[in-house]
Amino acid sequence: MTTVRLNSADPVSIDTDALIVGFRSGQEGPRPTNGAEALDAAFGGKLAASLDAVGFSGKPGELAKLPTFGAIAAPLLVAVGLGENPDTEGLRRAAGAAVRSLAGTARAALALPAGTPEETEAVALGGLLGAYGFARYRTSGEQKPPVGELTVIAGDSAEQGVAERAAVLAESVTLVRDLVNTPPSDLWPAKFAEIAEQTGAKAGLSVEVLDEKQLKDGGYGGLIGVGQGSSNPPRLVRLSYSHPEATKTLAFVGKGITFDSGGLSLKPSASMDWMKSDMGGAGAVFGALVGIARLGLPVNAIGYLCLAENLPSGTAQRPSDVIHSYSGKTVEVLDTDAEGRLVLMDGIARAAEDGPDVIVDVATLTGAQIVALGWRTSGVMSNDDALRELVVETAGAAGEGAWGMPLPEELRKGLDSAVADIANLQPERWGSMLAAGIFLKEFVPDGVRWAHIDMAGPAFNKGEAYGYTPKGGTGAITRTLIGLAERHASI
Ligand code: BES
Ligand code: MN
Ligand code: ZN
Repeated sequence: MTTVRLNSADPVSIDTDALIVGFRSGQEGPRPTNGAEALDAAFGGKLAASLDAVGFSGKPGELAKLPTFGAIAAPLLVAVGLGENPDTEGLRRAAGAAVRSLAGTARAALALPAGTPEETEAVALGGLLGAYGFARYRTSGEQKPPVGELTVIAGDSAEQGVAERAAVLAESVTLVRDLVNTPPSDLWPAKFAEIAEQTGAKAGLSVEVLDEKQLKDGGYGGLIGVGQGSSNPPRLVRLSYSHPEATKTLAFVGKGITFDSGGLSLKPSASMDWMKSDMGGAGAVFGALVGIARLGLPVNAIGYLCLAENLPSGTAQRPSDVIHSYSGKTVEVLDTDAEGRLVLMDGIARAAEDGPDVIVDVATLTGAQIVALGWRTSGVMSNDDALRELVVETAGAAGEGAWGMPLPEELRKGLDSAVADIANLQPERWGSMLAAGIFLKEFVPDGVRWAHIDMAGPAFNKGEAYGYTPKGGTGAITRTLIGLAERHASI
Protein backbone atom coordinates (compact mmCIF):
# COMPACT_ATOMS: atom_id res chain seq x y z
CA MET A 1 0.00 0.00 0.00
CA THR A 2 1.24 3.43 -0.94
CA THR A 3 2.11 5.71 1.98
CA VAL A 4 1.59 9.45 2.27
CA ARG A 5 3.07 12.15 4.48
CA LEU A 6 3.01 15.93 4.58
CA ASN A 7 6.11 18.04 4.22
CA SER A 8 6.76 21.77 4.08
CA ALA A 9 9.83 21.32 1.84
CA ASP A 10 10.63 23.58 -1.07
CA PRO A 11 9.54 22.04 -4.41
CA VAL A 12 12.88 23.13 -5.93
CA SER A 13 15.05 21.17 -3.52
CA ILE A 14 12.84 18.27 -2.43
CA ASP A 15 14.53 14.89 -2.83
CA THR A 16 12.09 12.77 -4.85
CA ASP A 17 11.88 10.84 -8.13
CA ALA A 18 9.09 12.94 -9.61
CA LEU A 19 7.66 16.32 -8.70
CA ILE A 20 3.99 16.77 -9.56
CA VAL A 21 3.02 20.42 -9.99
CA GLY A 22 -0.51 21.73 -10.39
CA PHE A 23 -1.12 24.41 -13.03
CA ARG A 24 -4.18 26.59 -13.41
CA SER A 25 -5.33 27.40 -16.91
CA GLY A 26 -5.77 31.05 -17.84
CA GLN A 27 -5.61 33.52 -20.68
CA GLU A 28 -1.85 34.01 -20.31
CA GLY A 29 -1.23 30.25 -20.40
CA PRO A 30 -0.71 27.77 -17.57
CA ARG A 31 0.05 29.31 -14.15
CA PRO A 32 1.84 27.27 -11.46
CA THR A 33 0.34 26.88 -7.96
CA ASN A 34 1.63 26.27 -4.45
CA GLY A 35 5.17 27.58 -4.27
CA ALA A 36 5.81 26.69 -7.88
CA GLU A 37 6.50 30.36 -8.66
CA ALA A 38 10.02 29.80 -7.27
CA LEU A 39 10.15 26.72 -9.43
CA ASP A 40 9.67 28.83 -12.53
CA ALA A 41 12.73 30.85 -11.54
CA ALA A 42 14.77 27.63 -11.28
CA PHE A 43 13.90 27.03 -14.94
CA GLY A 44 15.03 30.51 -15.89
CA GLY A 45 11.44 31.74 -16.02
CA LYS A 46 10.75 29.47 -18.98
CA LEU A 47 8.59 26.79 -17.36
CA ALA A 48 5.21 28.10 -18.46
CA ALA A 49 6.45 28.81 -21.97
CA SER A 50 7.96 25.32 -22.27
CA LEU A 51 4.71 23.74 -21.16
CA ASP A 52 2.86 25.89 -23.62
CA ALA A 53 5.26 24.66 -26.30
CA VAL A 54 4.39 21.02 -25.61
CA GLY A 55 0.70 21.89 -25.85
CA PHE A 56 -0.06 21.91 -22.14
CA SER A 57 -2.63 24.55 -21.17
CA GLY A 58 -3.65 23.53 -17.65
CA LYS A 59 -7.06 22.13 -18.51
CA PRO A 60 -8.45 19.72 -15.87
CA GLY A 61 -6.76 16.33 -16.03
CA GLU A 62 -4.17 17.36 -18.62
CA LEU A 63 -0.68 15.93 -18.03
CA ALA A 64 2.78 16.81 -19.34
CA LYS A 65 6.08 15.24 -18.29
CA LEU A 66 9.33 17.20 -18.56
CA PRO A 67 12.88 16.09 -17.77
CA THR A 68 14.43 18.70 -15.47
CA PHE A 69 18.11 18.36 -16.54
CA GLY A 70 19.25 19.28 -13.04
CA ALA A 71 17.34 22.56 -12.82
CA ILE A 72 15.65 21.22 -9.67
CA ALA A 73 16.42 18.26 -7.39
CA ALA A 74 13.70 16.01 -8.87
CA PRO A 75 14.74 14.48 -12.21
CA LEU A 76 11.19 14.53 -13.56
CA LEU A 77 8.51 17.20 -13.46
CA VAL A 78 4.89 16.21 -14.03
CA ALA A 79 2.63 19.14 -14.80
CA VAL A 80 -1.04 18.47 -14.12
CA GLY A 81 -3.87 20.75 -15.18
CA LEU A 82 -6.33 22.09 -12.59
CA GLY A 83 -8.54 24.24 -14.79
CA GLU A 84 -9.39 27.78 -13.78
CA ASN A 85 -10.55 27.29 -10.23
CA PRO A 86 -10.47 23.70 -8.98
CA ASP A 87 -12.78 22.46 -6.19
CA THR A 88 -11.72 19.65 -3.83
CA GLU A 89 -12.84 17.00 -6.31
CA GLY A 90 -10.80 18.75 -9.00
CA LEU A 91 -7.75 18.49 -6.73
CA ARG A 92 -8.43 14.82 -5.95
CA ARG A 93 -8.75 14.01 -9.64
CA ALA A 94 -5.66 15.95 -10.69
CA ALA A 95 -3.54 14.35 -7.96
CA GLY A 96 -4.95 10.93 -8.86
CA ALA A 97 -4.31 11.24 -12.59
CA ALA A 98 -0.74 12.44 -12.03
CA VAL A 99 0.12 9.69 -9.53
CA ARG A 100 -1.50 7.05 -11.74
CA SER A 101 0.73 8.13 -14.64
CA LEU A 102 3.81 7.48 -12.48
CA ALA A 103 3.32 3.73 -11.88
CA GLY A 104 6.77 2.15 -11.57
CA THR A 105 8.20 5.22 -9.77
CA ALA A 106 9.29 4.76 -6.15
CA ARG A 107 8.66 8.26 -4.76
CA ALA A 108 6.64 11.25 -5.88
CA ALA A 109 5.94 14.66 -4.33
CA LEU A 110 2.83 16.72 -4.99
CA ALA A 111 2.89 20.52 -5.20
CA LEU A 112 -0.79 21.31 -5.66
CA PRO A 113 -2.92 23.88 -3.81
CA ALA A 114 -2.76 22.80 -0.14
CA GLY A 115 -3.54 25.96 1.78
CA THR A 116 -6.36 24.49 3.87
CA PRO A 117 -6.72 21.10 5.60
CA GLU A 118 -9.52 20.32 3.15
CA GLU A 119 -7.28 20.95 0.14
CA THR A 120 -4.39 19.06 1.66
CA GLU A 121 -6.59 16.07 2.38
CA ALA A 122 -7.95 16.16 -1.18
CA VAL A 123 -4.45 16.09 -2.67
CA ALA A 124 -3.34 13.26 -0.37
CA LEU A 125 -6.50 11.23 -0.92
CA GLY A 126 -6.55 11.72 -4.69
CA GLY A 127 -2.89 10.70 -4.87
CA LEU A 128 -3.45 7.57 -2.79
CA LEU A 129 -6.56 6.55 -4.73
CA GLY A 130 -4.73 7.15 -8.03
CA ALA A 131 -1.90 4.88 -6.89
CA TYR A 132 -4.14 1.82 -6.94
CA GLY A 133 -3.12 -1.32 -8.81
CA PHE A 134 -4.45 -4.87 -8.86
CA ALA A 135 -1.67 -7.24 -9.92
CA ARG A 136 -2.55 -10.28 -7.80
CA TYR A 137 -3.29 -12.42 -10.83
CA ARG A 138 -0.43 -11.29 -13.09
CA THR A 139 2.57 -13.55 -13.54
CA SER A 140 4.39 -11.57 -16.24
CA GLY A 141 5.37 -8.59 -14.08
CA GLU A 142 4.50 -6.30 -16.97
CA GLN A 143 2.21 -4.22 -14.82
CA LYS A 144 4.29 -1.59 -13.06
CA PRO A 145 3.76 -1.30 -9.30
CA PRO A 146 2.03 1.84 -7.99
CA VAL A 147 4.10 4.71 -6.59
CA GLY A 148 5.39 3.62 -3.17
CA GLU A 149 5.73 6.87 -1.24
CA LEU A 150 3.86 10.12 -1.69
CA THR A 151 4.82 13.44 -0.13
CA VAL A 152 2.26 16.24 -0.16
CA ILE A 153 3.91 19.63 0.00
CA ALA A 154 1.83 21.69 2.44
CA GLY A 155 2.42 24.65 4.75
CA ASP A 156 4.31 24.42 8.07
CA SER A 157 1.06 24.42 9.99
CA ALA A 158 -0.39 21.38 8.18
CA GLU A 159 -1.36 18.61 10.57
CA GLN A 160 -0.20 15.04 9.90
CA GLY A 161 -3.70 13.97 11.03
CA VAL A 162 -4.95 15.10 7.64
CA ALA A 163 -2.65 12.60 5.94
CA GLU A 164 -3.73 9.86 8.35
CA ARG A 165 -7.39 10.51 7.59
CA ALA A 166 -6.69 10.40 3.86
CA ALA A 167 -4.86 7.10 4.36
CA VAL A 168 -7.80 5.55 6.25
CA LEU A 169 -10.24 6.66 3.55
CA ALA A 170 -7.98 5.36 0.77
CA GLU A 171 -7.44 2.02 2.53
CA SER A 172 -11.20 1.56 2.94
CA VAL A 173 -11.76 2.24 -0.76
CA THR A 174 -8.84 -0.04 -1.70
CA LEU A 175 -10.34 -2.86 0.33
CA VAL A 176 -13.55 -2.55 -1.69
CA ARG A 177 -11.79 -2.27 -5.05
CA ASP A 178 -9.79 -5.42 -4.31
CA LEU A 179 -12.94 -7.35 -3.35
CA VAL A 180 -14.79 -6.21 -6.49
CA ASN A 181 -11.83 -7.11 -8.71
CA THR A 182 -11.37 -10.54 -7.13
CA PRO A 183 -12.80 -13.18 -9.48
CA PRO A 184 -15.82 -15.11 -8.22
CA SER A 185 -13.71 -18.29 -8.22
CA ASP A 186 -11.91 -16.73 -5.24
CA LEU A 187 -14.76 -14.77 -3.66
CA TRP A 188 -17.93 -16.64 -2.78
CA PRO A 189 -20.30 -15.75 0.09
CA ALA A 190 -18.55 -17.74 2.85
CA LYS A 191 -15.17 -16.43 1.74
CA PHE A 192 -16.39 -12.81 1.78
CA ALA A 193 -17.85 -13.46 5.25
CA GLU A 194 -14.50 -14.83 6.44
CA ILE A 195 -12.65 -11.77 5.12
CA ALA A 196 -15.23 -9.53 6.83
CA GLU A 197 -14.70 -11.41 10.10
CA GLN A 198 -10.93 -11.12 10.01
CA THR A 199 -10.55 -7.59 8.67
CA GLY A 200 -13.56 -6.37 10.66
CA ALA A 201 -12.19 -7.74 13.93
CA LYS A 202 -8.81 -6.09 13.25
CA ALA A 203 -10.56 -2.74 12.79
CA GLY A 204 -12.45 -3.21 16.08
CA LEU A 205 -15.86 -4.25 14.70
CA SER A 206 -18.09 -6.93 16.20
CA VAL A 207 -18.89 -9.42 13.48
CA GLU A 208 -21.64 -12.05 13.37
CA VAL A 209 -22.19 -14.41 10.45
CA LEU A 210 -25.35 -16.40 9.74
CA ASP A 211 -24.73 -19.52 7.62
CA GLU A 212 -27.28 -21.18 5.34
CA LYS A 213 -28.77 -23.30 8.12
CA GLN A 214 -29.24 -20.30 10.42
CA LEU A 215 -30.69 -18.32 7.51
CA LYS A 216 -33.17 -21.07 6.75
CA ASP A 217 -34.15 -21.49 10.42
CA GLY A 218 -34.34 -17.71 10.80
CA GLY A 219 -36.79 -17.29 7.93
CA TYR A 220 -34.52 -15.44 5.50
CA GLY A 221 -36.37 -16.71 2.42
CA GLY A 222 -34.86 -14.14 0.05
CA LEU A 223 -31.22 -14.97 0.80
CA ILE A 224 -32.00 -18.71 0.72
CA GLY A 225 -33.99 -18.49 -2.52
CA VAL A 226 -31.34 -16.53 -4.40
CA GLY A 227 -28.50 -18.66 -3.05
CA GLN A 228 -30.02 -22.10 -3.50
CA GLY A 229 -28.87 -22.58 -7.09
CA SER A 230 -25.21 -22.42 -6.12
CA SER A 231 -23.03 -24.94 -4.31
CA ASN A 232 -21.61 -21.89 -2.49
CA PRO A 233 -24.39 -21.18 0.03
CA PRO A 234 -25.47 -17.67 1.14
CA ARG A 235 -24.38 -15.75 4.24
CA LEU A 236 -25.65 -12.73 6.15
CA VAL A 237 -22.91 -10.78 7.87
CA ARG A 238 -23.65 -8.23 10.59
CA LEU A 239 -20.85 -5.78 11.40
CA SER A 240 -21.28 -3.37 14.25
CA TYR A 241 -19.38 -0.43 15.65
CA SER A 242 -20.38 1.63 18.66
CA HIS A 243 -19.01 4.72 20.31
CA PRO A 244 -19.68 5.70 23.96
CA GLU A 245 -20.71 9.26 23.01
CA ALA A 246 -22.92 8.27 20.10
CA THR A 247 -26.45 9.62 19.94
CA LYS A 248 -27.30 8.23 16.49
CA THR A 249 -27.33 4.75 15.00
CA LEU A 250 -26.94 4.28 11.25
CA ALA A 251 -27.67 0.98 9.54
CA PHE A 252 -26.20 0.20 6.12
CA VAL A 253 -27.37 -2.76 4.04
CA GLY A 254 -25.33 -3.91 1.02
CA LYS A 255 -26.21 -6.14 -1.92
CA GLY A 256 -23.52 -8.80 -2.05
CA ILE A 257 -24.11 -11.04 -5.03
CA THR A 258 -20.63 -12.49 -5.52
CA PHE A 259 -21.64 -13.48 -9.04
CA ASP A 260 -24.90 -12.74 -10.85
CA SER A 261 -25.52 -15.07 -13.79
CA GLY A 262 -29.19 -14.13 -13.65
CA GLY A 263 -30.07 -17.62 -12.38
CA LEU A 264 -32.56 -19.56 -14.52
CA SER A 265 -33.53 -16.19 -16.07
CA LEU A 266 -30.00 -16.37 -17.46
CA LYS A 267 -28.23 -13.21 -18.61
CA PRO A 268 -26.72 -13.01 -22.11
CA SER A 269 -22.89 -13.43 -22.01
CA ALA A 270 -22.17 -9.79 -22.77
CA SER A 271 -24.05 -8.68 -19.64
CA MET A 272 -22.53 -11.42 -17.48
CA ASP A 273 -18.76 -11.15 -17.72
CA TRP A 274 -18.57 -8.22 -15.26
CA MET A 275 -21.14 -9.54 -12.77
CA LYS A 276 -18.39 -10.30 -10.26
CA SER A 277 -18.98 -6.63 -9.41
CA ASP A 278 -22.51 -7.34 -8.17
CA MET A 279 -21.23 -7.37 -4.59
CA GLY A 280 -20.11 -3.73 -4.84
CA GLY A 281 -22.85 -2.56 -2.46
CA ALA A 282 -21.82 -5.03 0.25
CA GLY A 283 -18.21 -4.04 -0.47
CA ALA A 284 -19.03 -0.36 0.12
CA VAL A 285 -20.84 -1.17 3.39
CA PHE A 286 -17.92 -3.29 4.58
CA GLY A 287 -15.30 -0.69 3.59
CA ALA A 288 -17.33 2.06 5.25
CA LEU A 289 -17.70 0.18 8.54
CA VAL A 290 -13.95 -0.47 8.62
CA GLY A 291 -13.28 3.21 7.87
CA ILE A 292 -15.78 4.48 10.48
CA ALA A 293 -14.21 2.26 13.14
CA ARG A 294 -10.65 3.25 12.23
CA LEU A 295 -11.58 6.94 12.33
CA GLY A 296 -13.31 6.40 15.69
CA LEU A 297 -16.34 8.47 14.66
CA PRO A 298 -18.77 9.36 17.50
CA VAL A 299 -21.69 7.38 16.10
CA ASN A 300 -23.07 3.84 16.16
CA ALA A 301 -22.98 2.04 12.84
CA ILE A 302 -24.27 -1.37 11.81
CA GLY A 303 -23.57 -2.94 8.45
CA TYR A 304 -25.34 -5.89 6.85
CA LEU A 305 -23.74 -7.77 3.97
CA CYS A 306 -26.37 -9.78 2.07
CA LEU A 307 -24.19 -12.39 0.39
CA ALA A 308 -25.31 -14.96 -2.17
CA GLU A 309 -24.26 -16.36 -5.55
CA ASN A 310 -26.99 -16.30 -8.22
CA LEU A 311 -26.53 -19.41 -10.40
CA PRO A 312 -28.82 -21.73 -12.37
CA SER A 313 -28.91 -25.42 -11.43
CA GLY A 314 -31.29 -28.21 -10.53
CA THR A 315 -31.72 -26.68 -7.10
CA ALA A 316 -32.09 -23.08 -8.30
CA GLN A 317 -35.26 -21.12 -7.64
CA ARG A 318 -37.66 -20.98 -10.59
CA PRO A 319 -39.57 -18.11 -12.12
CA SER A 320 -43.01 -18.37 -10.45
CA ASP A 321 -41.63 -19.69 -7.15
CA VAL A 322 -43.01 -17.93 -4.08
CA ILE A 323 -40.64 -17.13 -1.24
CA HIS A 324 -41.33 -16.15 2.36
CA SER A 325 -39.28 -13.09 3.20
CA TYR A 326 -37.84 -12.33 6.63
CA SER A 327 -40.48 -9.61 7.06
CA GLY A 328 -43.25 -12.19 6.69
CA LYS A 329 -44.42 -10.92 3.29
CA THR A 330 -44.56 -13.40 0.42
CA VAL A 331 -42.86 -12.64 -2.91
CA GLU A 332 -43.49 -14.19 -6.30
CA VAL A 333 -40.20 -14.52 -8.19
CA LEU A 334 -41.16 -13.72 -11.76
CA ASP A 335 -37.55 -13.20 -12.85
CA THR A 336 -34.61 -14.77 -11.02
CA ASP A 337 -32.35 -12.02 -12.40
CA ALA A 338 -34.13 -9.48 -10.19
CA GLU A 339 -32.32 -11.10 -7.25
CA GLY A 340 -30.75 -8.09 -5.58
CA ARG A 341 -34.03 -6.85 -4.16
CA LEU A 342 -34.69 -10.35 -2.77
CA VAL A 343 -31.56 -10.40 -0.63
CA LEU A 344 -31.97 -6.73 0.32
CA MET A 345 -35.58 -7.16 1.47
CA ASP A 346 -34.33 -9.58 4.13
CA GLY A 347 -31.38 -7.38 5.05
CA ILE A 348 -33.55 -4.26 5.36
CA ALA A 349 -36.19 -6.01 7.49
CA ARG A 350 -33.46 -7.41 9.75
CA ALA A 351 -31.73 -4.02 10.03
CA ALA A 352 -35.00 -2.39 11.09
CA GLU A 353 -35.05 -4.66 14.18
CA ASP A 354 -31.94 -2.85 15.44
CA GLY A 355 -34.02 0.34 15.73
CA PRO A 356 -31.59 2.56 13.77
CA ASP A 357 -32.23 6.27 13.12
CA VAL A 358 -31.84 5.60 9.40
CA ILE A 359 -31.32 2.67 7.06
CA VAL A 360 -29.33 3.20 3.88
CA ASP A 361 -29.07 0.35 1.39
CA VAL A 362 -26.48 0.27 -1.38
CA ALA A 363 -26.79 -1.95 -4.41
CA THR A 364 -25.78 -2.61 -8.00
CA LEU A 365 -29.49 -3.08 -8.48
CA THR A 366 -30.68 -2.24 -11.98
CA GLY A 367 -29.43 -1.78 -15.52
CA ALA A 368 -32.08 0.94 -15.64
CA GLN A 369 -29.91 3.09 -13.34
CA ILE A 370 -27.26 3.10 -16.08
CA VAL A 371 -29.88 3.92 -18.73
CA ALA A 372 -31.16 6.84 -16.66
CA LEU A 373 -27.98 8.31 -15.16
CA GLY A 374 -25.00 6.76 -16.94
CA TRP A 375 -21.87 5.15 -15.57
CA ARG A 376 -20.81 7.70 -12.98
CA THR A 377 -23.98 8.87 -11.25
CA SER A 378 -25.82 6.75 -8.69
CA GLY A 379 -29.57 7.11 -8.20
CA VAL A 380 -30.77 7.96 -4.69
CA MET A 381 -34.34 7.19 -3.59
CA SER A 382 -35.87 7.64 -0.17
CA ASN A 383 -39.08 7.72 1.83
CA ASP A 384 -37.81 11.00 3.35
CA ASP A 385 -36.95 14.05 1.23
CA ALA A 386 -34.44 15.51 3.69
CA LEU A 387 -32.57 12.21 3.98
CA ARG A 388 -32.41 11.87 0.19
CA GLU A 389 -31.00 15.38 -0.09
CA LEU A 390 -28.44 14.65 2.62
CA VAL A 391 -27.27 11.48 0.83
CA VAL A 392 -26.98 13.31 -2.50
CA GLU A 393 -25.10 16.22 -0.93
CA THR A 394 -22.76 13.91 1.01
CA ALA A 395 -21.98 11.92 -2.13
CA GLY A 396 -21.35 15.16 -4.01
CA ALA A 397 -18.89 16.39 -1.39
CA ALA A 398 -17.01 13.10 -1.68
CA GLY A 399 -16.90 13.48 -5.47
CA GLU A 400 -19.10 10.41 -5.85
CA GLY A 401 -21.80 11.45 -8.31
CA ALA A 402 -25.37 10.86 -7.12
CA TRP A 403 -28.76 12.27 -8.03
CA GLY A 404 -32.13 12.22 -6.33
CA MET A 405 -34.81 10.06 -7.95
CA PRO A 406 -38.52 9.76 -7.10
CA LEU A 407 -40.51 6.77 -5.85
CA PRO A 408 -43.78 7.28 -7.76
CA GLU A 409 -46.63 5.56 -5.93
CA GLU A 410 -48.34 4.53 -9.16
CA LEU A 411 -45.54 2.07 -9.89
CA ARG A 412 -46.61 -0.13 -6.96
CA LYS A 413 -49.49 -1.51 -8.99
CA GLY A 414 -47.09 -3.01 -11.55
CA LEU A 415 -45.67 -5.20 -8.79
CA ASP A 416 -49.01 -6.83 -7.96
CA SER A 417 -48.74 -10.62 -8.03
CA ALA A 418 -51.52 -13.03 -8.99
CA VAL A 419 -50.58 -15.32 -6.09
CA ALA A 420 -48.36 -13.57 -3.51
CA ASP A 421 -48.20 -10.26 -1.62
CA ILE A 422 -45.86 -8.75 -4.22
CA ALA A 423 -43.94 -9.74 -7.37
CA ASN A 424 -40.23 -9.05 -7.81
CA LEU A 425 -40.66 -7.61 -11.30
CA GLN A 426 -42.95 -5.18 -13.05
CA PRO A 427 -44.14 -6.30 -16.50
CA GLU A 428 -42.66 -3.30 -18.34
CA ARG A 429 -39.09 -1.98 -18.56
CA TRP A 430 -39.88 1.70 -18.12
CA GLY A 431 -38.92 3.15 -14.76
CA SER A 432 -37.28 -0.10 -13.59
CA MET A 433 -34.86 1.66 -11.25
CA LEU A 434 -37.78 3.33 -9.51
CA ALA A 435 -39.87 0.14 -9.45
CA ALA A 436 -36.98 -1.63 -7.69
CA GLY A 437 -36.98 1.20 -5.13
CA ILE A 438 -40.76 0.86 -4.69
CA PHE A 439 -40.28 -2.88 -4.12
CA LEU A 440 -37.67 -2.30 -1.38
CA LYS A 441 -39.82 0.37 0.28
CA GLU A 442 -42.43 -2.33 0.97
CA PHE A 443 -39.97 -3.95 3.38
CA VAL A 444 -39.19 -0.81 5.35
CA PRO A 445 -41.42 -0.70 8.45
CA ASP A 446 -43.61 2.38 8.88
CA GLY A 447 -41.85 5.27 10.56
CA VAL A 448 -38.33 4.13 9.62
CA ARG A 449 -36.34 6.60 7.54
CA TRP A 450 -34.67 4.83 4.65
CA ALA A 451 -32.64 5.67 1.56
CA HIS A 452 -31.66 3.45 -1.34
CA ILE A 453 -28.58 4.01 -3.51
CA ASP A 454 -28.53 2.26 -6.90
CA MET A 455 -24.90 2.22 -8.05
CA ALA A 456 -25.07 -0.34 -10.89
CA GLY A 457 -22.95 1.89 -13.15
CA PRO A 458 -20.56 3.57 -10.71
CA ALA A 459 -19.43 0.36 -8.95
CA PHE A 460 -17.37 -0.88 -11.88
CA ASN A 461 -15.45 1.10 -14.50
CA LYS A 462 -15.63 -0.78 -17.79
CA GLY A 463 -13.87 2.08 -19.61
CA GLU A 464 -10.44 3.63 -19.22
CA ALA A 465 -9.10 4.92 -15.92
CA TYR A 466 -9.74 8.63 -15.23
CA GLY A 467 -8.74 10.96 -12.39
CA TYR A 468 -8.27 8.72 -9.34
CA THR A 469 -10.66 6.06 -10.67
CA PRO A 470 -9.03 2.90 -12.04
CA LYS A 471 -10.45 0.41 -14.50
CA GLY A 472 -12.57 -2.26 -12.83
CA GLY A 473 -13.72 -1.98 -9.21
CA THR A 474 -14.05 1.66 -8.15
CA GLY A 475 -14.99 1.42 -4.46
CA ALA A 476 -17.80 3.91 -5.18
CA ILE A 477 -20.13 5.01 -2.35
CA THR A 478 -17.72 3.82 0.38
CA ARG A 479 -16.73 7.42 1.14
CA THR A 480 -20.34 8.59 0.90
CA LEU A 481 -21.31 6.19 3.72
CA ILE A 482 -18.38 7.32 5.84
CA GLY A 483 -19.44 10.90 5.09
CA LEU A 484 -22.96 10.15 6.34
CA ALA A 485 -21.51 8.82 9.59
CA GLU A 486 -19.52 12.06 9.89
CA ARG A 487 -22.73 14.06 9.41
CA HIS A 488 -24.58 12.13 12.08
CA ALA A 489 -25.68 15.40 13.65
CA SER A 490 -27.78 16.17 10.54
CA ILE A 491 -29.46 12.77 10.54
N1 BES B 1 -26.98 -6.99 -11.07
C1 BES B 1 -28.01 -6.65 -11.97
C2 BES B 1 -28.03 -5.15 -12.31
C3 BES B 1 -26.82 -4.60 -12.99
C4 BES B 1 -26.83 -4.43 -14.36
C5 BES B 1 -25.72 -4.22 -12.26
C6 BES B 1 -25.72 -3.89 -14.99
C7 BES B 1 -24.62 -3.69 -12.87
C8 BES B 1 -24.62 -3.51 -14.23
C9 BES B 1 -29.37 -7.00 -11.40
O1 BES B 1 -29.40 -8.10 -10.57
C10 BES B 1 -30.26 -7.29 -12.55
O2 BES B 1 -30.02 -8.27 -13.21
N2 BES B 1 -31.24 -6.44 -12.75
C11 BES B 1 -32.16 -6.61 -13.80
C12 BES B 1 -33.53 -6.44 -13.20
C13 BES B 1 -34.63 -6.80 -14.11
C14 BES B 1 -34.68 -8.30 -14.33
C15 BES B 1 -35.90 -6.30 -13.48
C16 BES B 1 -31.91 -5.54 -14.84
O3 BES B 1 -31.62 -4.41 -14.47
O4 BES B 1 -31.94 -5.85 -16.03
MN1 MN C 1 -29.61 -9.92 -11.59
ZN1 ZN D 1 -27.67 -8.51 -9.57
